[in-house]
Amino acid sequence: MAPTLNPPLLCFLILFLPAVCVFAQTRNSNLGVDDSFIAGNGNTSWVVSPSGDFAFGFQPLKNSNSLFLLSIWYAKISNTTIVWYANGDNPAPRGSRVQVTASEGLKLTSPNGQTLWTPENSPSGAVASGALNDFGNFVLQDRSSTSVWETFNNPKDTMLPSQTLGKGGKLSSRKSQADFAQGRFQLVLQDDGNLVIHSINLPSKYANENYFESQTVESNTSSPGTQLVFNKSGDFYVLKKNNNTFSFSDVPTPSPTQFYLRAILNFDGVLTFYQHPKSSFGNETWTAIWFQPDNICKEALISEGTGICGYNSICKLGENSRPNCQCPPGYSLLDPEDPYGSCKPDFIQGCKEDELSQGKDLKDLYDFEVLTDTDWPLSDFVLQKPFTEDECRKACMEDCFCAVAIFRLGDSCWKKRWPLSNGRYDTTLNGAKAFIKVRTDNSSLIGPPGPPIIKRKNQDTLILVVSVLLGSSAILNLVLTGAFCLGFSSIYQLRKKLKSVYRSDSAVETNLRCFTYKELEEATDGFKEELGRGAFGVVYKGAIVMGSAVTVAVKRLNTFLLQETEKEFKNEVNVIGQTHHKNLVRLLGFCEEGNERLLVYECMSNGTLASLLFSDSRPNWNLRLKMAFGIARGLVYLHEDCGTQIIHCDIKPQNILLDDYFNARISDFGLSKLLNMNQSRTHTAIRGTKGYVALEWFKNMPITAKVDVYSFGVLLLEIICCRRNVDMEPENEERAILTDWAYDCYTTGSLEALVEQDHEALHDKENLEKLVMVAIWCTQEDPTVRPTMRKVSQMLEGVAEVPAPPCQILNSVTRDHYYSPTLEYD
Ligand SMILES: *[C@@H]1O[C@H](CO)[C@@H](O)[C@H](O)[C@H]1NC(C)=O
Ligand SMILES: *[C@@H]1O[C@H](CO)[C@@H](O)[C@H](O)[C@H]1NC(C)=O
Repeated sequence: MAPTLNPPLLCFLILFLPAVCVFAQTRNSNLGVDDSFIAGNGNTSWVVSPSGDFAFGFQPLKNSNSLFLLSIWYAKISNTTIVWYANGDNPAPRGSRVQVTASEGLKLTSPNGQTLWTPENSPSGAVASGALNDFGNFVLQDRSSTSVWETFNNPKDTMLPSQTLGKGGKLSSRKSQADFAQGRFQLVLQDDGNLVIHSINLPSKYANENYFESQTVESNTSSPGTQLVFNKSGDFYVLKKNNNTFSFSDVPTPSPTQFYLRAILNFDGVLTFYQHPKSSFGNETWTAIWFQPDNICKEALISEGTGICGYNSICKLGENSRPNCQCPPGYSLLDPEDPYGSCKPDFIQGCKEDELSQGKDLKDLYDFEVLTDTDWPLSDFVLQKPFTEDECRKACMEDCFCAVAIFRLGDSCWKKRWPLSNGRYDTTLNGAKAFIKVRTDNSSLIGPPGPPIIKRKNQDTLILVVSVLLGSSAILNLVLTGAFCLGFSSIYQLRKKLKSVYRSDSAVETNLRCFTYKELEEATDGFKEELGRGAFGVVYKGAIVMGSAVTVAVKRLNTFLLQETEKEFKNEVNVIGQTHHKNLVRLLGFCEEGNERLLVYECMSNGTLASLLFSDSRPNWNLRLKMAFGIARGLVYLHEDCGTQIIHCDIKPQNILLDDYFNARISDFGLSKLLNMNQSRTHTAIRGTKGYVALEWFKNMPITAKVDVYSFGVLLLEIICCRRNVDMEPENEERAILTDWAYDCYTTGSLEALVEQDHEALHDKENLEKLVMVAIWCTQEDPTVRPTMRKVSQMLEGVAEVPAPPCQILNSVTRDHYYSPTLEYD
């Protein structure tokens, strides 16, 4: 009978054999020169201490499968607690190697041979061996078994029983719980014997005021400290020259035979002493026994750097004396990933902004959020006293420098300015009130100062386009020129067709006001202040009385462009005058006298979308989305909802104006019909078209409302990316035409490139992708494939699904002539 393995034995072998093998493989406490270990090869431990309590090797970094930290950790407890680490600032990619070397001691190299880390303090002699002992200390020894380098002498943020720190020794915090890069806090045993904790202003080494001091310095009553000691019995103290000790706490020390003990300078600046039962299986965890300082929010007052929390933030003490940081109402985190970082106001405030809102009561612009027992003690610029609470609020409201006012002690009013620092919640302030000034209207949505400002190159596109073309082959130029001529004749045909697009509906009378030329001359102070200059004419600022004084924009049309007879002018103006939508600029009146034709519009206080989008700082993502939605709604109205269909024909960011609340409002609609496009082509059509018009303008195709859909698609991409459709950067040729680049980014799944470092957009990836898909639909070459504006609006607002856009095969010749220099012909 053949021998068979009984099932229990089989189970035993299957379960325990591999464990025994791993055990045999890693249960190694000693290393020799040239021994090495690879990161991410399946095993984390290179060596384990004889008792098995500690391990040394590569820990994978949180949120990363491919980066590793050369470190020492507790090997027997479930949640990984790292007590020493080497390459916090320089994580090691999978495949990196650590090796014992005679001269450097330890050397960490990346898979491509680059040195990632070697000890800062090199070994004091030639290394012969290395071992991890049961205290958690990795020691390198020379041939005579003398220690030449130890992790205990080169600590990071943690100390363990039997470890000491001499004069000049320090602990340095990590950046956050899971990020082992250098953090802001340091504990130092100074040469004068004082043990101190302070923050430093990274990336410099400048040390701020100490917020904790043992005060163990030479004096009549005290003797200076000589060592920071964590002895084998678990006592943690500063040993003084006279052999007395300074203790951090009265709490009895837990027994190091039953508990793992560690002292760590936490990433938030608190020195904490922890215990963890040794004999635990499961959910036991670290318990804080004591912490210093008791109230870091209150003890730390940092005059030349940010406080414990970032700027404008408020420090509030949490469990175990650990600080929590909170943004005040109306503010949000500058970096949403860093809850201990600075807060930015979600609005703009300042003297310039207040001035721009002139005519409005400041009380309508700002409101106060009130917090009690809150202060930013170092941000004062004036103390006013004696003052009542009302006087204090009023004084801050009227002061464009004032970000917050603190009213305290019954009669004192401190006005504070940005950035507010050292914010803290402190009940000993006895009911101090913080009045936080928050802008209430939504012009606040404009990007506040602080977030990444993306600089753009200012360049003359035309010159570059010309030079690109001159640099290309003569044959290509010939083709392009030919295409342009073709385009020219199509435009001519288009004008004819456009006429039929508009039905001159029976002249419904509107409440448009008919002005005399003299009235408008007076209203504009003799056409003095020019607001803008477009192809249709010049726009002047004016004021008229309609109930009350209203600021208006008076557009004086280039009359040689007019083709309509008197009757037609009035008809067209009536069509425009009947439109009424919140995303359209309102026509208030007109004037026709002799050769003069003027249109009077409500004045838009915040300029054009072009100036907002293409300035140095990006407007806020949500504001941009709001604008895109608004423009889409405005176009739906023009195409479908007003009495006579109006095709704009010249949608571009220069024709979108922004009102007091930064609502996007379409301007110049209806004018393409009003003006003689035959004559204006060199001025308007061609210039206006560059990069924004649909291809049917250049082909012999009927012009429909789909031309606006195309232009809207281009505009949508410009809103997403905050850049112009055509931007010829020689080093970035594939990005020159936004519509093409966006399509490439979409197909290759690299949409992030489109928004550069726009954090808000990057955090809204789903929306970003949806918007780009909509834009691709809009810019389809075939007008019948493009959705209607209603459909576009529904897709943007999430009412309709956005199907995957069709594959775009571009006819490069048709496309190229579009951006050719001749289009800039003037
Ligand atoms: C540790 O320090 C405490 C307090 O100074 C002392 O009582 C104890 O004997 C020390 N233990 C060792 C092992 O040195
Ligand atoms: C401003 O925006 C917020 C949030 O988007 C909204 O709740 C509030 O009603 C808006 N206020 C005004 C005046 O539009």
